[in-house]
Amino acid sequence: MCGIAGYVGPRDAVSVVFDQLKRLEYRGYDSAGIATLQGEQIEVLKRAGKLTNLDALLKERPISENHIAIAHSRWATHGGPTDENAHPHFDEFEQVAIIHNGIIENYQELRDELAHRGHRFHSQTDTEVAAHVIGAEYSQGVPLEEAVRRACLKLRGAYALVVISRTEKGKIVCARNASPLVLGFGEHENLLASDIPALLPYTREVAVMEENTLAVLTEEGIQVMDMLGKPVPIEIQHIEWDVEKAERGGYEHFMIKEIYEQPEVMRQCLAGRVDEGGEIRFESIFSEHVWNEIDRVNVIACGTAYNAGLMGKHLFEKLLRLPTDVYHSSEFRYGDPVLSPRSLAVFVSQSGETADSLAALRLCKDRRIRTLGIVNVIGSSIARECDRTIFTQAGPEISVASTKAYTAQVMVLTLLALYIAQVQETPGVRTRQWVNSLVGLSELAEDCLKLDSQCQEIAAAFDGAPLTFFLGRGADASVALEAALKMKEVAYMPTQESPAGEMKHGPLALVEPGVVSVFGATDPGLADKVVSNMQEVKARGGTLVTVGTEQTRAVQSVSDHYLEIPHTPYPFLNALLSAIPMQLLAYHVAKRRGCEIDMPRNLAKSVTVE
Ligand code: M6R
Repeated sequence: MCGIAGYVGPRDAVSVVFDQLKRLEYRGYDSAGIATLQGEQIEVLKRAGKLTNLDALLKERPISENHIAIAHSRWATHGGPTDENAHPHFDEFEQVAIIHNGIIENYQELRDELAHRGHRFHSQTDTEVAAHVIGAEYSQGVPLEEAVRRACLKLRGAYALVVISRTEKGKIVCARNASPLVLGFGEHENLLASDIPALLPYTREVAVMEENTLAVLTEEGIQVMDMLGKPVPIEIQHIEWDVEKAERGGYEHFMIKEIYEQPEVMRQCLAGRVDEGGEIRFESIFSEHVWNEIDRVNVIACGTAYNAGLMGKHLFEKLLRLPTDVYHSSEFRYGDPVLSPRSLAVFVSQSGETADSLAALRLCKDRRIRTLGIVNVIGSSIARECDRTIFTQAGPEISVASTKAYTAQVMVLTLLALYIAQVQETPGVRTRQWVNSLVGLSELAEDCLKLDSQCQEIAAAFDGAPLTFFLGRGADASVALEAALKMKEVAYMPTQESPAGEMKHGPLALVEPGVVSVFGATDPGLADKVVSNMQEVKARGGTLVTVGTEQTRAVQSVSDHYLEIPHTPYPFLNALLSAIPMQLLAYHVAKRRGCEIDMPRNLAKSVTVE
């Protein structure tokens, strides 16, 4: 989720796009760059690190004033955060420069084909490959927009592209396929950006580009067309939001914005990892024979990432019969764990900087245990130090309470379990059917988000509750831990989380009128048992909120409040979907309680101290 900016008009274009990048800084990035025209050439200036580094470069190599520029702040996906990998990128003959958000899934095959034709690449990015594809079309003598249109037909994946050329000097061409791009309309000047906040100082008249469209920006105006080249009408909206609200995409808090991003995050997690035939591939993973040597998995993580690890354990053990333990990093590092030399240590972390997880990783490395990271932030310490790392591709997460990172971590753990099953040809595991369900999951996640207003109403049931239980069985019990953590963090609500079957072994003593119990009941095979547990709570006067599916609807009659999510053929995936209404409940309870949702008291986003 990188930042994109572009300007054409009478002002000093480089200053404008640099200012736009500053306004996108809150999204997080690890390198930045600008392309502009200098005489007959395109000048590209880019630097790894923060915008101050790019600013220093601009001072070292001043650019004469000009009226067209594009700029990018990169959050690395393909290739580390280096000067070479930073955007913009040139095509083979430096006729065009491009910036790009998203992932080009077929970049490797395109790169191989172009390399075969003599193209030389200077970075590891998929973006540079897209630049070369556009450049190759442009060499046919067509206008820039036609070259971009033709290139887009060859690119697979989710992306937003912005291109300038050294010959068509007053023109910016951009294209959108799944990654957001917003156009800004000014007086004899026009702009574009990946997010509305970057446009607001210059114009409040904006249009969000539709899927699969292309736009041509000049000083005089903006034309939008579809991928067949047919003009598309533009719907301009006037933005009233202040800049802060705009940073949150119009949402009141980053937490709710990030909850709503989850369907897209699910798609991004799979991007480039699942081919059309349903085969799973990872860019950087151990060779196939290694998976046959591994006799045990230890997942090591903190907080939400630990809870995601518990979900992974279900799959590793159920599907692969691979013994799996999940450790809190802080316990692992001081617990003198027994580690089989054939084990695999999996480190799950959003930030990749959590001090306890990093220390546990170094301990495993000292003991020569194989390590695998599942990390969101590219270039982070855990990502760099693990033998192999799979990135969750969730984009920057700003709210302290993790939501979309959890979903992405569970998605990646699921893909990993299926990948191992694919490599080992594990009998009875139909990886392609699983993959089909994973591909369809984002649409079901959209349906879960439709429960938002119901969750808002149900949140009133928590008013005055002294305690909330989060309960479930199987994978629902693991989601209950995460749901309880969200409720504690953002709503400051005391919670008790437990497998539902454990209630009568002690926690049931806490149930009395006013206490709310949230049950996850999404596994049809366990629904009867859950109903019995619900009745135990109901008999003691507790209030029951349940998340079920069409196949577990029997729980509805026992519940005071019922939320129904769509179901999949796999109870495990139903449980993952149930996390969404649980997050929404925590959010709305927190709002009713007037809590500081994005920055809860006493907590930090990245815990880099013990
Ligand atoms: O960056 P990490 O995933 O390693 O962080 C681990 C925990 O600190 C983190 O998940 C924390 O529990 C979140 N605030 C949960 O919402």
